Amino acid sequence: MRVLRSPAAVQRWATHQRESGHTIGLVPTMGALHEGHLSLVRAARHACNQVVATIFVNPTQFGPTEDFARYPRTTRRALALLRHEECDVVFMPAGDQMYPAGFQTYVVTGDLATDLEGRDRPTHFRGVTTICLKLFTICKPHRAYFGQKDYQQALVVRRMVADLNLDLVVKICPTVRESDGLAASSRNRHLGPADRERALAISRVLFEQARALRNGLYTARAAERRGRQALSKAAGLRLDYFSVRQAHSLARPGPSDRDLVLLAAARVGRTRLIDNVRVRLNSGR
Ligand code: PAJ
Repeated sequence: MRVLRSPAAVQRWATHQRESGHTIGLVPTMGALHEGHLSLVRAARHACNQVVATIFVNPTQFGPTEDFARYPRTTRRALALLRHEECDVVFMPAGDQMYPAGFQTYVVTGDLATDLEGRDRPTHFRGVTTICLKLFTICKPHRAYFGQKDYQQALVVRRMVADLNLDLVVKICPTVRESDGLAASSRNRHLGPADRERALAISRVLFEQARALRNGLYTARAAERRGRQALSKAAGLRLDYFSVRQAHSLARPGPSDRDLVLLAAARVGRTRLIDNVRVRLNSGR
């Protein structure tokens, strides 16, 4: 496994791989790796003959009050895990290699990025799309792998790829969960045993409401109301949002919409957690 730090070196590598007829799979990460990230590397490994993972804690996607400085930087462990998954290249640039002095050009996002995660973080998805676009032009992937765990992020990136005619496919891989249902996240390590128990309400309520929708028990609006009520009452949890949306546009669903996603965000102590569940309703109900 090669560890490369300069964008130009990775571009040379990628050009060479493409000229040799190889398929490049890209897995962008911020390096606090867990089973969720590794599942993306495995999916890329399975479908592509060259796999590049990136480790970069991207400052432009953090707001002024967010934890950029405190974000865990566990590079040695990450490299060992990526080596174990038989990654070919790890691109690990320094901050000023991605954002040199004078940097001033960003992607402008649209409606998909303004609500939910974007509501209190107005520049978050601008940062995500800008760094992803840079990683795409540096690593030249045929396929880029993202987790459903960050559902809105994956949609925003997929939208950018379509809107800007980028020549790659965005693959969205299923959320990896711990055995009790909690979505794997680098933030779970901040949860003590009591908070971890409290955090389980998020996935439990998402799955409960998804099941009720699938069984035709309620409308999307009723499921949203019930989920919101359940999580507002859950002990030790501060709900940011619980919302049922159309799966592709994140618009609010009407009665005939069948492809839905339930999304939730809540704080447990000082830890903010997000999760979501997709629901496809049978047609003809
Ligand atoms: P990071 O939080 O490191 O996540 C990297 C990728 O892992 C994302 O695509 C995320 O959706 C996926 N992931 C996280 N938890 C997962 C889980 N439980 N199951 C499946 N996939 C999971 O997301 C980012 O970094 C950054 O915003 C990035 C895209 C790298 C841009 O800076």
